[in-house]
Amino acid sequence: MTAQIIDGKAIAANVKVWLKQQISQLKQQHQKVPHLACVLVGENADSASYVRSKLKTANDLGMQVSDLHLPAEISQDQLLQKIQQLNLDQNINGILVQLPLPKHIDENLIIETINPEKDVDGLHPQNLGKLFANQDGIKSCTPLGCMILIDSVLSDLSGKNALVIGRSTLVGKPMAAMLLNADCSVQIAHSKTKNLAALCQQADIIIAAAGAPKLVKADWVKAEAVLIDVGLTWDQTAKQGKGGLVGDIDFASVSEKAAAITPVPGGVGPMTIAGLMLNSFEATCRQNN
Ligand code: GUN
Repeated sequence: MTAQIIDGKAIAANVKVWLKQQISQLKQQHQKVPHLACVLVGENADSASYVRSKLKTANDLGMQVSDLHLPAEISQDQLLQKIQQLNLDQNINGILVQLPLPKHIDENLIIETINPEKDVDGLHPQNLGKLFANQDGIKSCTPLGCMILIDSVLSDLSGKNALVIGRSTLVGKPMAAMLLNADCSVQIAHSKTKNLAALCQQADIIIAAAGAPKLVKADWVKAEAVLIDVGLTWDQTAKQGKGGLVGDIDFASVSEKAAAITPVPGGVGPMTIAGLMLNSFEATCRQNN
């Protein structure tokens, strides 16, 4: 059997068409335009490229954007002050601080300083706590995007065995909470897990977010399994020495066996940005300014 390819690019495009309409209506009916501030510290080329994509998408959807590019040498106190200014600015609805930050800055402290109502990344402990308590709050963008991809191929998640590989605060932990809230039976595997192949063999849904290229093999997965690949590693040896982006799932072999799978690139990546845009719009709607 050949798996259905879950086209993240196309699904993200549909989300954006819907959002563009919603943003236009919000403007006409309530004179409100979502305003997203992206904070980039330093010169990390990957981070700069992600921020450019986020700002461009927000702009294309009709949002206002502020591009705050700060020097790598900025002190932690100066960055905290900047965040506090953005918190107080009534014109700003969403604040995103691109990670990672330079080593001398405490990322947790910065994230905790963002007003949770403007935390469109969904990473503030208050938003993560609400997610784990299954209460309304802002949800982490990548897991939110993954849930939309899973929903596109499975109509009912209730009782499904879901396996999340990776336990990061950015993806693994919030992903597990979202699947649990959708009534899945959830397991989390990580670098110390001993029987990963056996856990995969029992899973109806696998979310691979370990940052380990081609970790998940075809003989580890069931024919009915749905696989979501969050991994993104630059592989110098791929495509006859030309290099290429690879995920945590061995796409060539697993796509011959499983029911559905996301490609890399073109799967989860576009949905992370779509999740951010959804969060920015919804945060704006909830705010009373
Ligand atoms: N760095 C890598 N992924 C992300 C993300 O989703 N949000 C932020 N803020 N930084 C990141």
